[in-house]
Amino acid sequence: MKPHTLLIVDDESAHLASLRDALGSDYNLLFARHGNDALAAARKHLPALLLLDVHMPDMDGFEVCRRLRAEPSTTGLPVVFVSAQANGNDEATAFELGGLDYLVRPLVPAVLLARLRSHLSRVPVQMLENSYREALLMLSHAGRFNDSDTGNHIWRMAAYARALAEAIGWDSAQCQMLELAAPLHDTGKLGLPQSVLLKPGSLTPEERAVMKTHTTIGGNILRRSEAPVFKMAAEIALCHHERWDGSGYPKGLAGDAIPESARIVALADVFDALSMKRPHKEPWPMEKIVDHITAGAGNHFEPRLTRYFLDSLPRLMEIHSHWDDSRPNPAAPSSFAPPSRLPLLHDSIYSVSGSMPQRARAASSLIRASIQ
Ligand SMILES: [Fe+2]
Repeated sequence: MKPHTLLIVDDESAHLASLRDALGSDYNLLFARHGNDALAAARKHLPALLLLDVHMPDMDGFEVCRRLRAEPSTTGLPVVFVSAQANGNDEATAFELGGLDYLVRPLVPAVLLARLRSHLSRVPVQMLENSYREALLMLSHAGRFNDSDTGNHIWRMAAYARALAEAIGWDSAQCQMLELAAPLHDTGKLGLPQSVLLKPGSLTPEERAVMKTHTTIGGNILRRSEAPVFKMAAEIALCHHERWDGSGYPKGLAGDAIPESARIVALADVFDALSMKRPHKEPWPMEKIVDHITAGAGNHFEPRLTRYFLDSLPRLMEIHSHWDDSRPNPAAPSSFAPPSRLPLLHDSIYSVSGSMPQRARAASSLIRASIQ
């Protein structure tokens, strides 16, 4: 039995015939001679892999690939490009579009078969990676299931955390991991009684003590995995309410004893919480948020992080605007600078020098000026 179905897309019948000869005894084959036919066949059959000619009239292979990537049902289909000539730009485009390979004619059947076998052996791994990522997303949502805010919050906060990690020089793999781990910070709320979690108004001291246990509950749930992303998520869940001066919970850790990932998420979470509308509060104006966070340097937040927070403000505001723009949210504050003004604001904030209080005041007035 042939294990996989391949979709071969080429406008020249001679090419289709030679590929049928080379691959027909190992794979089930589907053929298309035009971009639109290829898209229809891909949607209908979801082949294990597309062998896609780059140069075709009307719609070239790159455009076919772009359209596959734009549709949820076909976005992950593996694509191998085939071209008549070696061309550095085309090759770069092929990989930018997520192509697995870029082959140049004439194709040697034995080599083609070996390469396809190698690529197809990766398909289950890719599916596993996608499932793993989706499981993280579902767990993130589960942790916020009883919250009144929209799902936007966790993704926006994760993007803030990533921006701060980038600003302090984390490498891109670590930044990416933080973006996946940060939304799990309140996973422990799954273990809280609804009477506490959903109580309107202020909590009694006993209820506050129960609420604080979401840190240890979350840490205990997430540390069961050896996977690096869950290890990071566990330290964040456990330590995101610790404070730089040791006055936080659950352990009262201070300074560098608090994992850096948790220090970043603590700041990103407060920034996000203050900037959004909740049932009991309006969003704070940006200058008030800046004042609050810079005043927290050395007590709530690591002083170095608050400096990078100021440097990153334009980026953070850009993220805020992005989430508001792409997913309309009536609760979103409307007073943030639109993206078109951000480059100017960005340059202005970077040009401010002096002590941190001076820079915070200057940043506040620049923000005020930019939103008037
Ligand atoms: Fe929390």
